Amino acid sequence: MNNNDAVLEIRNIFSDREPKAYVRSFGCQLNCSDGEKIKGLLGEMGCTFTDDEKDADIIILNTCAVRENAEDRVFGIIGSMKKLKELKPSLIIGISGCMTAQSHIAEKIRKSYPQVDFVMGTYAINALPKLLLDCLNGVKFSADISEYDDFSETVPQIRDSSFKASVPIMFGCNNFCTYCIVPYVRGRERSRRSQDIISEVKQLVRDGYKEIMLLGQNVNSYGNDRECEMSFPQLLRAINDIEGDFIIRFMSSHPKDASKELIDAIFDCEKAAKHLHLPVQSGSDEMLKRMNRRYTAEKYLEIVDYIRSRDSDFSLTTDIIVGFPNESDEDFEATLDLIKRVKYDNIYSFIYSKRTGTKAAEIDDHTDEETKGQRMRRLLDIQRDISTEGYKRFIGRKMRVLVDDVSKKREGYVSGKSDEGMSVEFEGSSSLIGQFAEVEITDAMNWAVIGKMV
Ligand code: 5AD
Ligand code: SF4
Repeated sequence: MNNNDAVLEIRNIFSDREPKAYVRSFGCQLNCSDGEKIKGLLGEMGCTFTDDEKDADIIILNTCAVRENAEDRVFGIIGSMKKLKELKPSLIIGISGCMTAQSHIAEKIRKSYPQVDFVMGTYAINALPKLLLDCLNGVKFSADISEYDDFSETVPQIRDSSFKASVPIMFGCNNFCTYCIVPYVRGRERSRRSQDIISEVKQLVRDGYKEIMLLGQNVNSYGNDRECEMSFPQLLRAINDIEGDFIIRFMSSHPKDASKELIDAIFDCEKAAKHLHLPVQSGSDEMLKRMNRRYTAEKYLEIVDYIRSRDSDFSLTTDIIVGFPNESDEDFEATLDLIKRVKYDNIYSFIYSKRTGTKAAEIDDHTDEETKGQRMRRLLDIQRDISTEGYKRFIGRKMRVLVDDVSKKREGYVSGKSDEGMSVEFEGSSSLIGQFAEVEITDAMNWAVIGKMV
């Protein structure tokens, strides 16, 4: 049976029920984008949606595998769903995403969590109708974690936001950083056709979307797997040419491929955010080598210097891994030196997590957890001071802000992101959500800048 037939059959089964589905995505924006496709398919099959799992007839947890704590959290949630299944035996529970793309995890779920009805990997979104149909036909456990060469180009999507859209431009990763599970759970790089991406963005802009977030594990290698395809800087320019009032953001950029051409495109494209997330992971050449990052701290700083030679205030953010196996005090000091030199506006730091199947998991690690924790706290303390000091440069400036929520910290305030990627809060009502606002910055905190609308 093909997918379309399965969709039709399920529509028939569901025609007198209108089942409620609860879909929860974990992890990165690519995974959340997959979650929107899962919702799209469920909608096509006749489901409505609920935010309350107790109310649901179908539950799908779309999981992340990047660190162990993400997996532990999901196992905890799956465990707690045993009760729900006892209360409602017809409840269907499916687990998708990066966790279940690992066969040992899929097997663990099959063996130890009988409340789960099906698992599917990151390639198998299109297989959802067939897996659901199995469940409805009384099959005890079905699984599809195989690898397809399938871009899910035709899968419908129910987007989580009406003004911010994620647009994957490529899937998978070829880099094999030694700590990282992604190449094993999302396969090799597959770029979408630029015409498909451009058409999708045009439609989103027509539909009123104000932020277009281009996604890929390494957007800088976009097109390398397709003959005669555009490079990423060319794609950025082509999207910038689309008429409309919107901002283009993108994630993530591998520093080894961050070229002058890319930086020039960011400066040339008036719709491109003036911010770059450039994950460095470590400031130590020895660590970078063992992480298989294929750049040195010096090479990384050359890109930073080129960016800052064009705009000395340009906003940079990064990812840091603390406690990669056998990271020495000197290695860690090199990371501190680097963050002091670059002066990031924000860093996302993670304690190294051992991932079964990766190269780094084979290393015998002699650094104790206590030391790793201390390093993390030091890193965060130093970065807090750098951020607070750095944010002061925005005081007195006007920023365009896409408002995305009411402030969680201040009553009567709204929050949003500026073109520079800064979190901005200012006095205003929820009616501004989804709109651009001009804001003059009046104050700098260590988590955001504060301003007033002009
Ligand atoms: N342990 C800790 N952090 C990791 N990351 C990826 N894999 C691991 C791991 N095994 C971090 C990296 C990456 C970010 C998305 O997650 O910093 O850039
Ligand atoms: Fe995203 Fe990587 Fe987590 Fe998968 S493992 S959800 S690709 S961060």
